[in-house]
Amino acid sequence: MVREWNPRTASSAEIASLLDTLNAVLAADLPQDPPWQESSMREYLSEVMPGERRISWVAQEDDAPDGTPGAIVGHVHVLLLGGIGVLEVLVHPAVRRTGLGRELVRVAARRVWDEGFQSIGVEVVGDTPAVAFYESLGFTRDYVETRSVLDLRTVDWPALTEMSAEVGAGYHVEFWPGGPPDELLEAYARAKAEVRDSDDVELRPSSYDPDRLRDSLATLHRRGMKPYIVLALHERTGDVAGLTEVVVPAQHPTRADQYDTIVVHDHRGYGIDRAIKARMLLELRSAEPQLVEVQTWNAQDNESMLKVNAELGYRPDRDWCEYGVDVAELVHRLDSHR
Ligand SMILES: CC(C)(COP(=O)(O)OP(=O)(O)OC[C@H]1O[C@@H](n2cnc3c(N)ncnc32)[C@H](O)[C@@H]1OP(=O)(O)O)[C@@H](O)C(=O)NCCC(=O)NCCS
Repeated sequence: MVREWNPRTASSAEIASLLDTLNAVLAADLPQDPPWQESSMREYLSEVMPGERRISWVAQEDDAPDGTPGAIVGHVHVLLLGGIGVLEVLVHPAVRRTGLGRELVRVAARRVWDEGFQSIGVEVVGDTPAVAFYESLGFTRDYVETRSVLDLRTVDWPALTEMSAEVGAGYHVEFWPGGPPDELLEAYARAKAEVRDSDDVELRPSSYDPDRLRDSLATLHRRGMKPYIVLALHERTGDVAGLTEVVVPAQHPTRADQYDTIVVHDHRGYGIDRAIKARMLLELRSAEPQLVEVQTWNAQDNESMLKVNAELGYRPDRDWCEYGVDVAELVHRLDSHR
């Protein structure tokens, strides 16, 4: 049975059952990824940025004769932001290929349509059944990135310490656990705005103005995801010349996520990219001693960043794609399939 579901008020047993399904999906599709933990899972599923909405549904098996609630074997949510609905679907490997994934997408797509949105986007992990699934529903591939993973146990720490110091004269590098301080928020948002058109990825929008940045940091904290920031300041102007962001999620604290890394155009060619990323890894080593891996996503044509990541020890893992579809077409296709 598929029903709308509110993670904020759901029982702890339901949250735990969904987590079991998520971990079964990971074990089947991404066996190298660490399993998720329950910590802040409810907040992860329910907290959103101001102005955004997430609507969720679950597929739950029938209750047992003794009244024990059935397991949650499928989940879909759609995040409504800007003009797009961003979809995420999970089906337990034990019940796949029975049409449940298609039914979950149908229910969510219908709502996105009713809410007046025109397109749906989804992140699809390469080399998993999701590729054939979304293509069968008429989604097309808009963008491909490569995910790379750095195993901290293989890092050459003395070499990294040297890299962190090799930054051009006139810059200094600062580490800010929790996010940039208030007095730097404006300069920080300016640096992000500058590369907005060239380097941004639609489904993971970043924040370009100070208020939105503040909201975005607060949302991350509420979802149990701790941001760390290293930035390079241009001493003469006070500009943020470069920045790198890593988030350590309570749900998988042994594997951190690299978010944006930006070097502002005028400040390229001074070793800032390598120095700030190296400094970040050194800081994380003491701030988050349980951490064993960092994962990052890069456009395949971003050669300079891929080169720096390779020097730091990142190894390409797999494709990570963005797919999209017109909502009207999707609703029509799914309704006529019933
Ligand atoms: C993608 C996913 C949702 C599909 O769920 P499902 O319930 O098995 O999908 P359905 O049974 O509704 O399949 C619909 C159609 O998709 C296509 N399809 C689905 N899985 C497929 C596969 N493994 N190979 C080829 N085609 C496939 C088929 O055309 C299928 O129709 P058919 O069975 O009549 O041939 C499921 O595999 C899943 O949860 N994957 C993980 C997704 C994810 O988010 N991963 C991120 C963390 S790893």
